[in-house]
Amino acid sequence: MTGLFVTFEGGEGSGKSTQVARLAARLRARGFEPVLTREPGGTPLAEGIRALLLDPARHCGPMSEALLMEAARADVVTHVVRPALAAGRVVLCDRYDDSTLAYQGGGRGLDAGLLATLNRAATGGLLPDLTLLYDIPPELGLARRERAAGDTNRLDREPAEFHARVRRRYLELAATAPERWVVLDAAAGPDELESLGWAALEPRLPRREP
Ligand code: TYD
Repeated sequence: MTGLFVTFEGGEGSGKSTQVARLAARLRARGFEPVLTREPGGTPLAEGIRALLLDPARHCGPMSEALLMEAARADVVTHVVRPALAAGRVVLCDRYDDSTLAYQGGGRGLDAGLLATLNRAATGGLLPDLTLLYDIPPELGLARRERAAGDTNRLDREPAEFHARVRRRYLELAATAPERWVVLDAAAGPDELESLGWAALEPRLPRREP
C-alpha cells in the first residue's frame, strides 16, 4: 500500500508551518497517524546540515547551498519519507524539492535544468501527490516573521527582490502542474487557511491506514 505525500511550500512568514500542525491535527481526528517532517532537516544528518545552512554567521555560495539542500534531501527521503509512504502513511513535509527550484533557481539564479536533475538524484524521482503553496507578498510575510520570531535566519535576510523572485518562480511552477499544486492566499487568517488546506487534502486521502 502506498500512502499520500503532501508538501507545503511558500515564502517566509506565510504561516505554512502552523498549517502543517493544524492539518496533522485534523488527520489525527480522522484516525490517521501522519508523519511530519521538514526540509532542510528531518533526520540527524539533515538537521546538522540545516544548522549550517541557516546560520547567519556563515557564508554559503549558491552552488554549495544547493548541494547541501540536496544532501539533506537525499537523507530524509531515504530514511523518513519513502519508508513512511511504503507503510501507507500520510506524510506532511514542510518544504520539499520545489523549494530548491524557487530559492536556488528563482532566488539565486541557478540553472533550472541542473536543479531539476539534482532534485531527481536526491529524491529518486519521488514527487508529491499534493503541494500546497501558501502564497504571500514578501513584504507581508517578512513583517509577520519579524513580529513572530524576533530573529531571522540567513535566507530571511536576503533583499526584498530575492523574495519577490522566489514568489514568482513558485507561481510559475504551480501553473505548470495544476493537478498537483493548490495555491492558497496566505494573507487569509489561519482558520480560513486551514479550511482551504483541508478541502484540498481530504479528497486525496487513502481510504484507511493499515
Ligand atoms: P525555515 O526557518 O524552516 O523557513 P520557513 O519557516 O519559511 O520554512 O528555513 C528554511 C529556509 O531554507 C527557508 O528560507 C527556505 C530555505 N530553503 C531553500 O532555500 N532551499 C530548499 O531546497 C529548502 C528545502 C529550503
